Amino acid sequence: MTILVTGATGTVGRRIVAQLAARGTPVRALTRNPAKAAVPDGVEVACGDLTEPGTLAPALEGVTGLHLITFGGDDQAPLENGRELVELAAKAGVRRVSVLSGWDETSVEEALRAGDLGWTQLRCVEFMANAFDWAKSVRRDGVVRVFGNHPGAVVHEADIAAVAVAALVEDGHAGESYLLTGPEALTPEQRVRLLGAAIGRELRFEELSEEEYRASMRAAGVDDDLIEFGVRLGAEPPPAAAVVLPTVERVTGRPGRTFAAWAAEHAAAFRN
Ligand SMILES: NC(=O)c1ccc[n+]([C@@H]2O[C@H](COP(=O)([O-])OP(=O)(O)OC[C@H]3O[C@@H](n4cnc5c(N)ncnc54)[C@H](OP(=O)(O)O)[C@@H]3O)[C@@H](O)[C@H]2O)c1
Repeated sequence: MTILVTGATGTVGRRIVAQLAARGTPVRALTRNPAKAAVPDGVEVACGDLTEPGTLAPALEGVTGLHLITFGGDDQAPLENGRELVELAAKAGVRRVSVLSGWDETSVEEALRAGDLGWTQLRCVEFMANAFDWAKSVRRDGVVRVFGNHPGAVVHEADIAAVAVAALVEDGHAGESYLLTGPEALTPEQRVRLLGAAIGRELRFEELSEEEYRASMRAAGVDDDLIEFGVRLGAEPPPAAAVVLPTVERVTGRPGRTFAAWAAEHAAAFRN
């Protein structure tokens, strides 16, 4: 049994690879650039591009479990070839699939729903890792500037990965759509305080107006669609964003990791 992880060098996929390797499950990491991919000892690396299914045959050889992302390319464009990807997986002998969905479903979820592979959908509102966006201004000025200060039950990437691992190695998760949250709903300001405590520096929190936010994003070269998305999220996050759910603990048997733990783990990225 080999599990192929796509997005294996990314925020969540990297954790899935590490957790599977740690439990001794044969795991193969898909990347477009094997020379740059750093994976734990014993993990196979396979070269392939999800937008070019013709490149995936060697990666899928002997694979019974598959973790899928739903975008391809550095602009994170939604995959449009879900049907082809799912057909290739089924032909290769894949029996269990976990899918990390984005905000909107893509051709990947559509194809899985229409097919007969056992698959588990993972959905999240906000990753704890988004706090990396604050690293530069924290290191430089000890300040975090955000638009919107609503509570969010941000989820640790390692917990998303742990749920994916459960879905890939255990029975009983096929057909489930898991909305994953962290163990507490925290405003950005509360997260900034916890981050300050973790790095031993008092941090300033500044709330931007919508106009200031737009201007700062434009200055950073962020494209218009992403700015509009940020404005919508900052002004009026979906109600689900602040609701703490027991899913991580129910599926993994351990409570979700806290933001304080995330901050301690990544403190070095926020220090000069
Ligand atoms: N951030 C949040 O708060 C949040 C909330 C909800 C949902 N999500 C969703 O979570 C997902 C992950 O987001 P992320 O920002 O953390 O991304 P990420 O995992 O850091 O994305 C990069 C990964 O995608 C791989 N990749 C990109 N294009 C590829 C292609 N054409 N073929 C094969 N692999 C490809 C990269 O592999 P190589 O470069 O090694 O080839 C890399 O491993 C997205 O669907 C996002 O919508 C995020």
